[in-house]
Amino acid sequence: MHFSSLTLICRQKNGLKSVFSAKCVRNAVNYVTAISQKSSNFAAQFKMMVMKKILFTLLAVLTFTSCNAQNKNEKMVNEQMKKCLVVFFSHAGENYSVGNIQVGNTKIVADYISELAGADQFEIVTHKYDGMAYTPLTELAQEEARNDERPAFEGKLENLDQYDIIFIGGPIWWGTYPQVMFTFFDTYDLNGKTIYPFTTHEGSGLGNVMSDIRKAYPNADVKPGFSIYGHEVRTNKAKVEKWIKGLNL
Ligand SMILES: Cc1cc2nc3c(=O)[nH]c(=O)nc-3n(C[C@H](O)[C@H](O)[C@H](O)COP(=O)(O)O)c2cc1C
Repeated sequence: MHFSSLTLICRQKNGLKSVFSAKCVRNAVNYVTAISQKSSNFAAQFKMMVMKKILFTLLAVLTFTSCNAQNKNEKMVNEQMKKCLVVFFSHAGENYSVGNIQVGNTKIVADYISELAGADQFEIVTHKYDGMAYTPLTELAQEEARNDERPAFEGKLENLDQYDIIFIGGPIWWGTYPQVMFTFFDTYDLNGKTIYPFTTHEGSGLGNVMSDIRKAYPNADVKPGFSIYGHEVRTNKAKVEKWIKGLNL
């Protein structure tokens, strides 16, 4: 029996193939085969056949174990890469151009980022604006901005140390992020982190967020920001995808 061309191919979920060459087992099978050919005794040949079967089973087990180990390694690499966090604020309810929405525009982008970059999330949540119509909300937001207020938010961000890359996103309210995001900036020190700002807006683009983030975190590596129209987020996931893929995280 010839095993010179014997290779076992294990196809991974991601399409990669791993080739397993069971050299030791192959040599053993060759050895047993050689002995069996020399033997004229039927009982001995039968014994050899049984031994060969055992060796083949061993070969199959070894191959399976090898593929499993490789899958585990790939999982570990993915887990090690998962050092991204998306911090965002988003307001559901009556919106400027997309009607009454259950999920805010920025949250939709934050979810895309999490999906594409394997990023965890921290949502800056306040109930201060719940149920407000658009116009009174703009008036309240303008007053907050004028007074440089710091509205409270809920929840705590745990284990900030584990993240190297932080995406920060929010809607543009009166030319920059909503004031509640500045409360977050005052609370958590992101100096030393790599920051990717993003906004959703209806014409202002990034507004003043780049300079505001640099001011809040002078020692962070603040990368160029990304902005997208709020009315575009549900139909143009490709734009977010292009940005994230271009970052080579
Ligand atoms: C209080 C308020 C102020 C806003 N100010 C601006 C602005 O200055 N410039 C702009 O382009 N869009 C402005 N918008 C529109 C929002 O930025 C846009 O609808 C955004 O996508 C909303 O995101 P969200 O659903 O995640 O909260 C404002 C919206 C609100 C509610």
